Amino acid sequence: MPKQSAAAMAHPNIAFIKYWGNRDRELRIPANSSLSMNLEGLETKTLVRFDSELAQDEFILNEEPASHEAAGRVTAFLDVVRGMANLPERASVASKNNFPSGAGVASSASAFAALALAASRAAGLVLDTNALSRLARRGSGSASRSVPDGFVEWHAGENDADSYAESVAPADHWALRDCIVVVSEAHKAIGSSEGHDLADSSPFQEARIAGAQERLENCRRAIVERDFATLADVVELDSLMMHSVMMSSMPALFYWEPATLGVLKAVRAWRADGLEACATVDAGPNVHVICPEAQASEIVEQLTRLPGVLRVLESSVGGGAKWLEL
Ligand code: PMV
Repeated sequence: MPKQSAAAMAHPNIAFIKYWGNRDRELRIPANSSLSMNLEGLETKTLVRFDSELAQDEFILNEEPASHEAAGRVTAFLDVVRGMANLPERASVASKNNFPSGAGVASSASAFAALALAASRAAGLVLDTNALSRLARRGSGSASRSVPDGFVEWHAGENDADSYAESVAPADHWALRDCIVVVSEAHKAIGSSEGHDLADSSPFQEARIAGAQERLENCRRAIVERDFATLADVVELDSLMMHSVMMSSMPALFYWEPATLGVLKAVRAWRADGLEACATVDAGPNVHVICPEAQASEIVEQLTRLPGVLRVLESSVGGGAKWLEL
């Protein structure tokens, strides 16, 4: 018997080694393994209720009915859960982010991680962390990484059963900060789901994939050994490689604004002067500046003074997704 209602919370994450391109679009089996850090303080909370009286799924996002597109994506995800639980009932889903959608943080990772936990429990399924990560992956690839704790590796795998994320170190392993530099609050023109489909049209994607495993292993080792210098080099290289693919795909994807490049160059100059900081950019113009806790206040102050910077949000390393008591 289904439990009917359940609620959950998840954090977004920032990828140190990026996921870009799918081997299987439908199942979201990625072209390469990736590695990220969960973002404390930013969260999505989601409540799911299956109800035999509902004629169709309902999705309320930040206290307003969601767009047609967002609702369709939630229904497609709930269909996966219904299939697993052999459940015909429609559901009402209410989801809330504590960060504004213009904050420069993609919400699909925290959204589908929280939805995976809440919907599966409400449907009466009992899933372990691996199975929850696999389920979250079906909504958004990066959501698989928001299920486990702290620093998380998503094993690309080859099929639905072996493509899931695992923690490589808990949140309290290393006191890093992500200083999220907002240079634009505009909604991105091409979302990541469409972007993944273009990856193979770039002549550089093959080279990016060929070296991805080695970069991931260097990154994982740097995290385990708390080696910031190695982490900085590999994080920046991997982000620049993904953007090289984006900019050279057909059609080309330019996510950067002039201020994006300004921040990237400033961070490199500060690092050359001995500050421990490195930068990474997702499918948007905003820059995530990663640094040890001890340097964060100085870095935030300097970032705020750069041209084109609207604001800087600061986040530490977050835990995994969890269920909430109703
Ligand atoms: O999970 P998606 O489909 O939103 O893709 C995420 C893509 C990047 O944020 C650009 C990279 C990553 O690994 O998070």
